[in-house]
Amino acid sequence: MSSSETSELTERILKYLEGVEQVDSLRLAEELGIEHQLIVGAVKSIQAHGERLLHVEPVTRKSLELTEEGQEVAQNGSHEANVFASVPEEGIKRTDLLASGGASVCLDRSVEPPLVRRKVSAIRDPVLDHLLQLSELSASDVVEFKRLVQEPTIESLLLSKGPEFGTALAKLATDLTMDMLTSGEWEELPFKPYNFDALGAVPARGHLHPLLKMRSEFRQIFLEMGFAEMATNNYVEPSFWNFDSLFQPQQHPARDAHDTFYVKQSTGSRGYGYNWQLIEAEKNLLRTHTTAVSARTLYQLATRPNGFKPAKFFTIDKVFRNEALDATHLAEFHQVEGVIANVDFTLGDLIGTLQELFRKLGIEELQFKPTYSPYTEPSMEIYCYHSGLAEWLEVGNSGIFRPELVLPMGLPPGVNVLAWGLSLERPTMIKYGINNISDLVGPRVDLKMVEDGPICRLDHN
Ligand code: PHE
Repeated sequence: MSSSETSELTERILKYLEGVEQVDSLRLAEELGIEHQLIVGAVKSIQAHGERLLHVEPVTRKSLELTEEGQEVAQNGSHEANVFASVPEEGIKRTDLLASGGASVCLDRSVEPPLVRRKVSAIRDPVLDHLLQLSELSASDVVEFKRLVQEPTIESLLLSKGPEFGTALAKLATDLTMDMLTSGEWEELPFKPYNFDALGAVPARGHLHPLLKMRSEFRQIFLEMGFAEMATNNYVEPSFWNFDSLFQPQQHPARDAHDTFYVKQSTGSRGYGYNWQLIEAEKNLLRTHTTAVSARTLYQLATRPNGFKPAKFFTIDKVFRNEALDATHLAEFHQVEGVIANVDFTLGDLIGTLQELFRKLGIEELQFKPTYSPYTEPSMEIYCYHSGLAEWLEVGNSGIFRPELVLPMGLPPGVNVLAWGLSLERPTMIKYGINNISDLVGPRVDLKMVEDGPICRLDHN
């Protein structure tokens, strides 16, 4: 209600009171055709002008009314009377009578004999009589009929004129201005009392995007599991770290083949046997996966001055792909990547780690499907069961890095590197019930969605 609407209503209330001794606010609401809550609000604002204008006395009353079931009985008769009415003169089988619904409320299921007959030809229905005359119910009737009648407490205000009653309200000052101070007017002016119960205005502030909320949850879980965060502050990588270091061949439409790639014999691999070109590896690109970061980090791990030490790394950051856009794909998205380098680690360790990671995310059921990837062998797609959607969803890829990748880095023989990549958008869309990726990222994002989005809580345990 605007302040001019309130002052119009306070005026109507005072005008009404002018002509009567006293009036109950509920009655007044009816008379003026205004919601009771609004009347109560307007009375409060009249009271702000001082105690002596209006006398206001809170009153509580109880009044009887029918419950939903009571209304049904008042219309169709009591359940008992209805059972009686369903018994024909020749009698009815107990089971048939019970099947008629209402009877089960009144009849003991074990009633014998199996045939139910009328003993009298007609009955009175005292329950119905009582309900039709609510005002005559005694306190004990009210208790007895507690399913049929209820007695809510009704609160209202009894209004009457105070010793300084008047129909016009002076406008109360709300702000103390410099003019009031310099003119001395402030000494005379009636001020509106300060409302210490008013809710403060919510200050404008920044809000975290759902993807960032999801990212901090993932990050927390990785840190709990002892992973260190990799530096991912460069979107641009030379093709070398993005492809070549990961043993991805250069026979890609965007790459030319000229030079010969001399593979280190120590890997025992014959490589792809194609012409490898340095210039192709030097081309800059927007990284297509965070595995480029893993590759560079592994190289740093292998060339540490104090020698190799087992390590676990993660990163959650942006990657870019030049692909067709649709409801679930954009040209950029986030990957959640994990890498573990340790001596004699196996596929079992990879499965166990992924199970633990997902368990901390609140997902217990995982399935793995063998797949192909140029840099991992064996490789597994990761599927998780989403109980809300009741389906298996592909959530990422994983595997053990090939020796063709690990040995040229300089990692000691016997060290295995387990790795996986997940999407951040997918779990965020599921968690926040967003069906179209352009509602989550890009120019069509509703900032209100970002502002109102709940915090992200995954089941850490
Ligand atoms: N880089 C892969 C992708 O972009 C994910 C992956 C990471 C797979 C590490 C295996 C190991 O889908």
